[in-house]
Amino acid sequence: MTDATLQRLFHLRTYGCQMNVHDSEKISNLLYHAGYRATDSADAADLLIINTCSIRDKAEQHLYSDLGRLRDWKGEGARRVLAVAGCVAQQEGDSLLVRFPHVDFVFGTHNLRFVAAMASAAERGSRTARVDETDSVERFDLPQRHPDFGGESVGRAYVTVMEGCDMFCSFCIVPTTRGREISRATAGIVAEAEALAASGVREITLLGQTVNAYGRHDARRGHAEERGTASFSQLLRRLAAIPGLDRIRYTSPHPLFFDDDLVRVHAEVDAVCPHVHLPLQSGSDSVLTDMRRRYGRDDFRRTADALRKAKPDIAITTDLIVGFPGESDADFRDTLDLVRDIAFVDGFSFKYSPRPGTSALRLDRPAVPPDEAQERLEELQSLLRSLTLKAHRARVGGTTEVLVEGPSRRGGGQLKGRDPYHRVVNFETPEGLSAPKAGDFATVRVVDATPHSLIALAVS
Ligand code: SAH
Ligand code: SF4
Ligand code: F3S
Repeated sequence: MTDATLQRLFHLRTYGCQMNVHDSEKISNLLYHAGYRATDSADAADLLIINTCSIRDKAEQHLYSDLGRLRDWKGEGARRVLAVAGCVAQQEGDSLLVRFPHVDFVFGTHNLRFVAAMASAAERGSRTARVDETDSVERFDLPQRHPDFGGESVGRAYVTVMEGCDMFCSFCIVPTTRGREISRATAGIVAEAEALAASGVREITLLGQTVNAYGRHDARRGHAEERGTASFSQLLRRLAAIPGLDRIRYTSPHPLFFDDDLVRVHAEVDAVCPHVHLPLQSGSDSVLTDMRRRYGRDDFRRTADALRKAKPDIAITTDLIVGFPGESDADFRDTLDLVRDIAFVDGFSFKYSPRPGTSALRLDRPAVPPDEAQERLEELQSLLRSLTLKAHRARVGGTTEVLVEGPSRRGGGQLKGRDPYHRVVNFETPEGLSAPKAGDFATVRVVDATPHSLIALAVS
């Protein structure tokens, strides 16, 4: 479409994890195919979509404060359409239409492909919610990238390999918001990765709520051949053979699904990056039991040890929750000890947030007082920061390979990217060398370290 008066503009806001970021790319791509174009300006937009996260109460509240502010936006143009997508949409469904009369449509995590049809129905005055959950693999059949839609990043791309989660950790809302675990056929994943590599993508990140559980249900039910799903480690080996794909990452794995072959892949397959994000959640066996994580601290340590034995320089990062109901001071000390012992390179840590419909709400355990949870969070974060700084300092003097993302926040003409260990690297290009572009690899020498990044100089 070239007529500017006909061209619809959409503005998309994204909260939450990489799966949501990638869902926003899928939504954008679908809208490009339907003739829409993206705008950074809400004021210019005919269609505004909020892609929501519900992992903690604070994340859900972002939606409600956005919606409050958007009453005026909606009031200003008769034709303007407002939509809610993502995990809060899935959780709340049409109750959002009732509570917020200025919301035109709601679509859940299984219904991305209806976005354009719902937007045009909304323009004609219909107000609908589509949050039905399907167990079909149809949702993976999305159109190829529209030529005008480049994706969110240059040189890197996300690829969905599985969706949903059947683990039902007692604190977690994801099994509700993302539904049952389902794996995409290997052939479709490989075809998408090949097309991305052919278009210049050098690094892919495989996505799934429990990404290394890929194919497990099909294998267990004897459906693997019929559904065309390999094991996760076979999938990694297959993708590593694609010419031009230099880096393969995956997130988030569950500690339970590291079998011997997946560990071996880290030793044997160069394209698989030496980084694993391995969420621990707690270092206390009794808290882990109440969280329904299905491993103990020794199991976790064994997995970390096996990965380090296979790949001695592997960087292991994690997620942790403090203040889970019943967490005693001794439980928390167990977490600190294990975090120190494993020496995570980095970690995200959160205060427990009660979520609707989760089984932790039914646990007969005393709540941890908020100020106590806050103190624990601060102590844990200070330990994590010191571990990160130590790991970063150990890198000073070494060289590494950076996939360039763009200008650094530090300014001064510095560039930013990630090394194979997923560390952020900010670097300068000395005079005489030409500065690399986003999507290029640069070899750099690390000259300094902060808790946030490695500071480096380009050497070629
Ligand atoms: N699938 C991943 C986690 C995805 S959610 C896994 O199994 O590890 C990302 C992180 O949010 C979790 O690892 C957990 O640390 C945190 N989280 C999830 N639910 C939470 C809750 N109710 N309160 C606080 N943190 C939570
Ligand atoms: Fe949530 Fe647990 Fe599933 Fe991760 S494995 S998404 S924490 S239920
Ligand atoms: Fe949030 Fe949904 Fe991801 S709840 S963390 S956006 S799966």
